Amino acid sequence: MSQDAFETRAIHVGQHPDPAHGSTVPPIHMTSTFTQTRFEADAAHSYTRVSNPTRSALEECLAALEGGEAGAAYASGMAATQAILLSLAPGDGVVAGRDLYGGTFRMLERIFRPWGLEVAWADDSSPDAYRRALRTLARPRIVWLESPTNPLLLATDIAAVADVGHEAGCRVVVDNTFATPYLQRPFDFGADIVTHSTTKYLGGHSDIIGGAIVTRRAADIEPYRFQQKASGTIPSPFDCWLVHRGIKTLAVRMDRHCENAARLAHALRTHPAVERVYWPGFEDHPGHAIAARQMRGFGGMVSADLRGGAEAVRRLVERLRLFAYAESLGGVESLINYPTKMSHGSMTPAERAERGIGDGLVRFSVGIENAEDLIGDVRRALEE
Ligand SMILES: Cc1ncc(COP(=O)(O)O)c(C=O)c1O
Repeated sequence: MSQDAFETRAIHVGQHPDPAHGSTVPPIHMTSTFTQTRFEADAAHSYTRVSNPTRSALEECLAALEGGEAGAAYASGMAATQAILLSLAPGDGVVAGRDLYGGTFRMLERIFRPWGLEVAWADDSSPDAYRRALRTLARPRIVWLESPTNPLLLATDIAAVADVGHEAGCRVVVDNTFATPYLQRPFDFGADIVTHSTTKYLGGHSDIIGGAIVTRRAADIEPYRFQQKASGTIPSPFDCWLVHRGIKTLAVRMDRHCENAARLAHALRTHPAVERVYWPGFEDHPGHAIAARQMRGFGGMVSADLRGGAEAVRRLVERLRLFAYAESLGGVESLINYPTKMSHGSMTPAERAERGIGDGLVRFSVGIENAEDLIGDVRRALEE
């Protein structure tokens, strides 16, 4: 299978026909437990918190798509993040890119810093800033980054930051939620661990919450498998099945997400109500060359500063017809997020300001509807 192209792996890996009845699409193993036929109780599965065939199939597929050796699925993206941070000890240190999902910021600052983790922040676009931040930590263990970042869509040079992290003896974790393995494979650039909110593009239909960890080396998955078993932060077999089904169309969906986002970004850029558009596909975007090197397309996310701040955002979200005003991203339907109140609402105004997240900033998750309809919706809502 590993010699097959991405699209083929997305459809075939982990999709073994059911041996009992031959159903081409494997059944959903909705069971908490597994009857043991031998006294030794040594069957492949024993209890669904530990493992389940539907979850194992998804994990196999996720690893194959990222080019890693092993995967572990979790109940949410945050549960996956938590599993990685819980594998550290109080006194250990994490350097994270400054512009990242607000929930990851909240977990680092409000849960793990009080728990004893040392946390330092680095400017995402500067490998030197990561190096300087690492020097402030007594026991640096993990470098954490997103690329493109959330919500400003900066591009981080994964290879350069991975070198800096490895020099300091750290494991390098990339949250690949925004890009997906179709557009970007962090292991090709030296990352050790990839995380996902499978809630987003991998599931693709805004109907489940899920997360995943993929490791470059098989042995590195063990602490995360142990956490699945010991803490039970696992997804249900049904949710695993839905994510796995979503993955089958990931490649075609991402192509359309990228195309629609590019068209919306260009339309917004020339609109007088818009002050600035953030999209790594623009040639004058500071991370354009990095994104072009690391990614096969520029992704489905576009952010923009509106002239007129919060009031302009209110007018826009109240007038949009097709873009739902909602948290999250990566579904087939278009959404508009207001970071100040939603994805980055757990930051204080000062913490947001430090990151350049202003009150006029909106983040579009551009869906796979007709591009003209989407652009028309935004134009009309900006102009009404
Ligand atoms: C980049 C990124 N990582 C992680 C998460 C957390 O995932 P979940 O909502 O599945 O817990 C999100 C959620 O928005 C996200 O955008």
